[in-house]
Amino acid sequence: MTRRFLFVLGSSRAEGNTELLARRAAEQLPGDVEQRWISLAEHPLPDFTDLRHDSDYVRPAPDSTAGRLLDATLAATDLVIASPLYWYSVSGLTKTYLDHWAGWLRTPGIDFKATMAGRTLWGVAALAGEEASIADPYVGTLRNSAAYLGMRFGGVLLGNGTDRGDVLRDKEALTRAKTFFAEDAPLARFPYVSA
Ligand SMILES: Cc1cc2nc3c(=O)[nH]c(=O)nc-3n(C[C@H](O)[C@H](O)[C@H](O)COP(=O)(O)O)c2cc1C
Repeated sequence: MTRRFLFVLGSSRAEGNTELLARRAAEQLPGDVEQRWISLAEHPLPDFTDLRHDSDYVRPAPDSTAGRLLDATLAATDLVIASPLYWYSVSGLTKTYLDHWAGWLRTPGIDFKATMAGRTLWGVAALAGEEASIADPYVGTLRNSAAYLGMRFGGVLLGNGTDRGDVLRDKEALTRAKTFFAEDAPLARFPYVSA
């Protein structure tokens, strides 16, 4: 099956470190792999409303922002959350996207969970801090979300930087970017489930 990568850009600024690092990693993908890039800042989703226990969700119109993102998500074999580290986790724009999954899980006719099961979730994040462990909440959010949906998880490519372009000086991150999407992506497990 042809792989189709969807890059969901979650920074609140254009052409930031996270996108730069994600593009470096994406350069290594074989030519027959489809790539689609969507910036949440350019295409902001409406706030999520929790109707789960009140009514069914209605599938968003295909020409709406939510509809386009839903269709792009359903079409992706590989979903890349490219969000900077904001307050040790994903950005607000990214969190809103993930919140919409809760509605998509309850939207008739989509079968969101079954469709996403077996597909792969990846993360790319720039952060100002030097210690990778400060991004543990970010990694946990993605890993647990992947486990909840029965997805594979390829881990998170971290790069250091504050101002735009800084990440291009992070040699370690650039080296890992070369092989990141070729790394093993096992089925995601919650931390309390033993292998
Ligand atoms: C709202 C906000 C919160 C941030 N929180 C953190 C943080 O918790 N830890 C950290 O190391 N850097 C933090 N940063 C710094 C960014 O992660 C850093 O500048 C990164 O390079 C931005 O990525 P971008 O260029 O892709 O937007 C924060 C920046 C902003 C704007």
